[in-house]
Amino acid sequence: MGAADDLLAQVRVQGAIPRHVAIIMDGNGRWARERRLPRPIGHRHGMKSVREVVEASIAAGVEVLSLFAFSQENWQRPAGEVSALMSLLEEYIQKEARELDEQGVRVVFLGDLDRLPAAQRGAVDRVMALTAHNTKLVLNLFISYGSRAELVRAARLIAEDVAAGRLAPDQVDEAALASRLFTVGCPDPDLLIRTSGEMRISNFLLWQLAYTELHISPVLWPDFGRAELYEAILDYQSRERRFGRVTA
Ligand code: FPP
Repeated sequence: MGAADDLLAQVRVQGAIPRHVAIIMDGNGRWARERRLPRPIGHRHGMKSVREVVEASIAAGVEVLSLFAFSQENWQRPAGEVSALMSLLEEYIQKEARELDEQGVRVVFLGDLDRLPAAQRGAVDRVMALTAHNTKLVLNLFISYGSRAELVRAARLIAEDVAAGRLAPDQVDEAALASRLFTVGCPDPDLLIRTSGEMRISNFLLWQLAYTELHISPVLWPDFGRAELYEAILDYQSRERRFGRVTA
């Protein structure tokens, strides 16, 4: 048994498995710079980590895995890096779609998908349709996503429903808002992991993370794998979640 298997065994005995794990995958650029490689090579190695955490999540029994792959702000990176990330996205779908389907993964893309180039948009739609029936793991991939924009969109949808008489103002409650977010139907994340030591939320799931436990890993994303995921879950299992209440 390897170190990751030992950690998984510990995870299984130590406590409840988080139903929903969210990850801000950070540090691809620094990983590449440390090796004097171009940044896109860091992103390519980051793709391997995506594969590992998907497999590790299935093995542990996580129900939903949410990965922040590309933010709205990321469109402002140099054109060469944006197009490298878009190519990787297409490559990831092409290479992994069948295996994800065989593993029972339902792939869901969330964000402003209308901004994607046509090839990527087509690939995204195809893998979502291919895997829509799967139930083992929901893999939420956030692309062209910003949480404030998601909240503004929800507010606009509510305003439209109120203006059209479909919703009364006093029916606007937390459930009404949550049901107009991209994450409708998903439990809120139990655990948020951010890699590369940065202690920021960076406009990711601002509403959904209200009571989420945070785990900051110093490891750069391309070096993050099964063992690091299980260490994060062990850390989560050691927390006492009170949701604003006191313990008995
Ligand atoms: C953050 O590192 C990472 C990204 C902006 C991209 C994440 C993309 C992948 C992991 C690969 C593609 C994945 C899929 C699912 C297609 P950074 O560039 O901000 O690193 P830095 O902070 O060190 O510069």
